[in-house]
Amino acid sequence: MAIERLVEPTSFNEDAEEAKIEISLRPTSFSEYIGQEHLKKNLKLAIDAVKKRSDGSSLDHILLYGPPGLGKTTMAGVIARELGSGLKVTSGPAIERAGDLASILTNLKDGDVLFIDEIHRLRRVVEEVLYSAMEDFKLDIVIGKGPAARSVRLDLPHFTVIGATTRTGSLAGPLRDRFGIIHRLEYYKESEIAEIIKRTAGILGTEIKPEVLGLLAKRSRLTPRIANRIFKRVRDYADVNGDGIVDTEISRSALELMEIDELGLDPADRNMLSLMYENYGERPVGLSTIAALTGDEATTIEDYYEPYLLKLGLIARTPKGRIVTEKGRRHLQNR
Ligand SMILES: Nc1ncnc2c1ncn2[C@@H]1O[C@H](COP(=O)(O)OP(=O)(O)O)[C@@H](O)[C@H]1O
Ligand SMILES: [Mg+2]
Repeated sequence: MAIERLVEPTSFNEDAEEAKIEISLRPTSFSEYIGQEHLKKNLKLAIDAVKKRSDGSSLDHILLYGPPGLGKTTMAGVIARELGSGLKVTSGPAIERAGDLASILTNLKDGDVLFIDEIHRLRRVVEEVLYSAMEDFKLDIVIGKGPAARSVRLDLPHFTVIGATTRTGSLAGPLRDRFGIIHRLEYYKESEIAEIIKRTAGILGTEIKPEVLGLLAKRSRLTPRIANRIFKRVRDYADVNGDGIVDTEISRSALELMEIDELGLDPADRNMLSLMYENYGERPVGLSTIAALTGDEATTIEDYYEPYLLKLGLIARTPKGRIVTEKGRRHLQNR
C-alpha cells in the first residue's frame, strides 16, 4: 500500500471544514498572490492590454504548468477576477464526450474564462473540438447520422481558456500551439513560503512566533499547498498540546510527529529513495520499476515525488532511468 502523502491534492481529512478553510486561504487578487513575480508581471500586462482595447477581443489562452500545489488553480481564479469575467471550472477527465465540451462552450459568455485543470488528460476527440474552438471561436458539429449527416458551424463567444497541467510534454502539439501565453510556475523562495504561512496564520487567527516562520518554510517543499497543510497540522498540535500559540517547540514536535525531515521529505519520499538505493545502488532505475517498488502509479511518482527530489538534487534523471545521487545517499545515511 502506498503511504498517504502531504503533497497529494486530497490526502488527509479533507472534510467540509477543511474545504472551508481552504477556500478562505485562496488569494483572489494579484496583490494577495505571493511570489511568481515574473508570471504576475506578464499577466498584468496582458490583462491591462485587453481592458484598454475594448474591441471585444479576449485575453490570449493561457497554459500554466508545473508541479502540484504551486498555485495554478488559484491563479486561474485571480485572472478571472482581475478581468472582471465569469469563470467556468472543469477538468480534462471530466469532459467525457465532444458533446459535453460543446455544451460548456455554447454556455459561455463573451470574455469568460474557461479553466481546464489536468488538460493533458483530455480525450483526443474532445481535444480536437477544443483547439478548433480556441483558434477561431467556432464550433463544428455534425447533425444527423449516415448519408443525411451534415456539419454546421456555430459561432462561439470570445472566451479564454486557462489550461493547467503538471506535464506539458504530454500535451498534443496542436493544442499547445493554441496558447498565446505558456508559463511554468516555479518553486517558491523560502522567504515567500514564510510570507504565505504568516498570511495563513493571520487569516486563521493563530498566533505564530516570527522565528517559527523560517523553520516551517524550510520543511514545506517550497510549495504553498504543503506550507498550508503543515501549518494547519502544527496549529492543531498547538491547540491540543499547548496554549494554541505556534512556537518553535510546538512546531518541532509536530513536525516530528508528521515525520517531516529537515529537507521537507516525508516518509513516502524517504521510502522511495531507500527502495531505489537498496535495490539498485548507484545504477539507474526505470520509472515503472520505481512505481512497482513503492506501489504507486508511475504518474504519481512523476507528478508528486520526483519534481522536488530532482529540484533538491537527491535524485537525477539519466537516459537510462533515475539514480539516487551522492547527496541523496548522504541524506538517507544521516537519518
Ligand atoms: N501565490 C500564493 N500565495 C498564497 N497562497 C497560495 C499561492 N499559491 C497557492 N496558494 C495556496 O496553496 C493552495 C494550493 O494552490 P493551487 O492553486 O490549488 O495549486 P495547483 O492548482 O497548482 O495544484 C491554494 O489553496 C492556496 O491557498
Ligand atoms: Mg490545481
